[in-house]
Amino acid sequence: MKNTKIVIHGKKKLCGSVKISGAKNAALPQLAASLLTTSEVHFQSVPQVEDVKVMFHALKNLGAEGIFDADTVYIQVPELKSTEIPPEIGKTSRASILILGPLVARNGYAKVSRPGGCPIGDRKIDFHLQGLGQMGVTIQETPDYIIAKADNGLHAIDYTFPNKTVTGTENLLMAAALAQGKTILRNCALEPEVGDLIDLLTTMGSHIQGKNTETLTIAGQNRLNGARHTLIPDRIEMGTYVIAASLKGNNEIMIENAIPEYIDGLLSVLTQIGIEVAAWDGKITVRTRGPLCPVEIETLPYPGYPTDLQAQLTTLLTQAQGVSKIKENIFNNRFQHADELNKLGANIEVDRDIAIIRGKTPLNGRTIRATDLRASAALVLAGLIADGQTVVENAYQLLRGYENMPQKLRQLGADITLIDE
Ligand code: EPZ
Repeated sequence: MKNTKIVIHGKKKLCGSVKISGAKNAALPQLAASLLTTSEVHFQSVPQVEDVKVMFHALKNLGAEGIFDADTVYIQVPELKSTEIPPEIGKTSRASILILGPLVARNGYAKVSRPGGCPIGDRKIDFHLQGLGQMGVTIQETPDYIIAKADNGLHAIDYTFPNKTVTGTENLLMAAALAQGKTILRNCALEPEVGDLIDLLTTMGSHIQGKNTETLTIAGQNRLNGARHTLIPDRIEMGTYVIAASLKGNNEIMIENAIPEYIDGLLSVLTQIGIEVAAWDGKITVRTRGPLCPVEIETLPYPGYPTDLQAQLTTLLTQAQGVSKIKENIFNNRFQHADELNKLGANIEVDRDIAIIRGKTPLNGRTIRATDLRASAALVLAGLIADGQTVVENAYQLLRGYENMPQKLRQLGADITLIDE
């Protein structure tokens, strides 16, 4: 898996329809939520991607029973066999930090490795720990682990997040579900994956008010029930295919099972660039007519322009006629794809949190290297329009978060092959 690479022969027309998989960033917290009950939880539309497989494996390591077959997960944790997530499991993704809250809420003890995840900047967790601390959890930190104890269980708090945090909101939401009393969380993240977690917890018997607002009120329960739940589609995958369709004139892609409003931030930018986007009853079609216009954008928490679609947009803007500017506000090291795109012939200058993209630059295929999940998608998109052959090394990064992307692009007409040496 570690020597995986993707080989692309560019400039092929893309047309046809693509089905969006379930959301990776909904699956991760929701699988962890299965710790909040001893009953079975049944998930549909779970993407077969590496980060979700790591989460499933981590839960099995704790004593979960179940199966992950196609897009279905049955999982049940009747009793814990371990309360520890070792670094070899926790170091590659955000799984361990999402397990911390529900595990300590259920059991009063959790020892989890410091979380990994994309090397896109500081991946701080101080808000997670601050909130759990106020709920009665004693936190001890070592270089490799976070050890959480709550001998008297968790109690309700009124907590305001200093800044928006997606998994921080999800972690404290899950912990509050089993805390004594009514918890109020303020300045919560508004990402759709938070709302989907609220839907799951409600089905499990939680009483949560304020979905899709910044203030959530959670009435803690002594225990939660099992549930059946279908995950929302992956809005970042959706946006990635919309950008893929936008790269070249005469591409025509239909995106099925879409929820267009989840990517309003992207669609409004594409309209400014001159891309024709039509969205109706769960479908999106994208057509590019004429030259692309440059834009100036900044990444923001939902519903603003998503940081997880910043790298992919950078690739598109190499084809705009003029100077574009992207300000990355969420992470402080999320332009690593720029150097790789410049190797193909792009003209991108990065100065701290700003990238200046000068287009239109023809791209010529060569061997480049993926540094993180969304950067790998940006490099694949560049390969689709580059002249000749592009080889993306370290393509394991892509498999962490995109289900069957080479297959889906091949079905649309791309000449793309995954090679797992
Ligand atoms: C989630 O990461 C997503 N991952 C990320 O997607 C996404 O980029 C990010 O939210 C922002 O939308 C999952 O949901 C599994 P944050 P998360 O906590 O929760 C700072 C992908 O490509 N912060 O919202 O880890 C932090 O340093 C991934 O699918 C604190 O300072 O991000 C960052 O600068 C990449 N203290 C900013 O907030 C904290 O306690 C946003 O982080 C927590 C966060």
